[in-house]
Amino acid sequence: MTYKKNILVTGGAGFIGSHCVRLFVEKYADYRVINLDALTYAGNLENLKDVEHNENYVFVSEDILNDQGIEEIFRDYQITDVIHLAAESHVDRSITDPLAFLKTNILGTANLLNAAKTYWKDDFSQHVFYHVSTDEVYGSLGPEGFFYEDMAYDPQSPYSASKASSDHFVRAYANTYCLQTKISNCSNNYGPNQFPEKLIPLMLNNIRNGKPLPVYGDGTNIRDWLFVIDHARAIDDIFHKGVANETYNIGGNNELQNIELVRLLCDLMDDKMNQDKGTSQKLITFVKDRPGHDHRYAIDNTKLTTTLGWEPSVTVVEGMKATIDWYWDNEKWLRNITSGAYMEYYKAQYSH
Ligand code: NAD
Ligand code: DAU
Repeated sequence: MTYKKNILVTGGAGFIGSHCVRLFVEKYADYRVINLDALTYAGNLENLKDVEHNENYVFVSEDILNDQGIEEIFRDYQITDVIHLAAESHVDRSITDPLAFLKTNILGTANLLNAAKTYWKDDFSQHVFYHVSTDEVYGSLGPEGFFYEDMAYDPQSPYSASKASSDHFVRAYANTYCLQTKISNCSNNYGPNQFPEKLIPLMLNNIRNGKPLPVYGDGTNIRDWLFVIDHARAIDDIFHKGVANETYNIGGNNELQNIELVRLLCDLMDDKMNQDKGTSQKLITFVKDRPGHDHRYAIDNTKLTTTLGWEPSVTVVEGMKATIDWYWDNEKWLRNITSGAYMEYYKAQYSH
């Protein structure tokens, strides 16, 4: 069969990537989705069990740092478009190993851009290089204000510095070589299949197991939460309807202090576990703060909602309940990935 598009999705075995792959595979039978992933600790093919036998889905095990391998994939699969999500994504890990972030997030992105520049050179207008980025590139907000698309970048952690740099490279390739690019900068995602190093699945796992709930600093840092399936829907809209070489901020207007969020998770889990309200909150433990901890993220999503008509499909409580149900029903998924290497990471991160 000849496909209308052969879309290379990088990082498709990860959290957001797997939701994005599923949406494209199921919604667009006339596209072939080539999921390229190095299957690091964060990549898990179990996330895509339900679509792995679809005819329009292919998995390729590859590292975005392998430039020759990437070029071969462009050639072998006649890649028409890229949706690039592969990255090192956890801020705490970037503090202990910044170079790993520099390599994957900057060099890896440049390798993909180079392959696209070579392979699409006859007519860049027929192809899209979509780079999935983060709101953390804008820095840290005080109590007022929002992140706008035209704000100056001010990254504060090795992770956000590496993502900011990769965004700059994407724009530079658009400007210099006429690649058609799109960038989106999204706020904190939550939902099924998120690796339990991140706040929400870590807390849910610990509540279920009666373990302390480590809240960094005084818990007043603010994040703006978005259900992962709504992020995948926004990527679909921007990929298809977004203006070339523009940037879109994605967020669901759900600002919460970390401590408020953890208390909400405790209350929802008390319901789920038929416990008295307040039982899980007793597990809350304030621990040493994250170095350079960004205070507040808040997205202004006006461009996305007014020009592309995107709206989040769930409220934060609906999304949290769906997430809790998913983790509750998928304990085996969690057990499989929280063995061995994850436990060593957990001990090192939370032992002091
Ligand atoms: P994740 O850590 O769950 O998944 C990353 C995936 O990339 C994994 O499958 C991993 O195996 C793969 N990968 C890592 N290094 C690779 C390499 N060198 N070559 C090939 N594959 C590699 O990350 P996520 O939370 O799903 O984030 C996906 C993207 O979205 C990232 O670019 C991240 O910066 C961005 N983002 C994440 C959030 C969030 O809240 N999680 C918000 C905004 C933007
Ligand atoms: O804003 C988008 C970003 O959101 C993405 O680009 C990143 O890939 C993603 O990891 C996420 O970054 P954060 O650092 O905001 O997410 P994390 O889940 O690590 O932490 C959320 C907040 O909770 C943050 O203020 C730190 C705090 N925290 C986190 C952990 C893991 C705790 O208080 N305790 C914890 O144990």
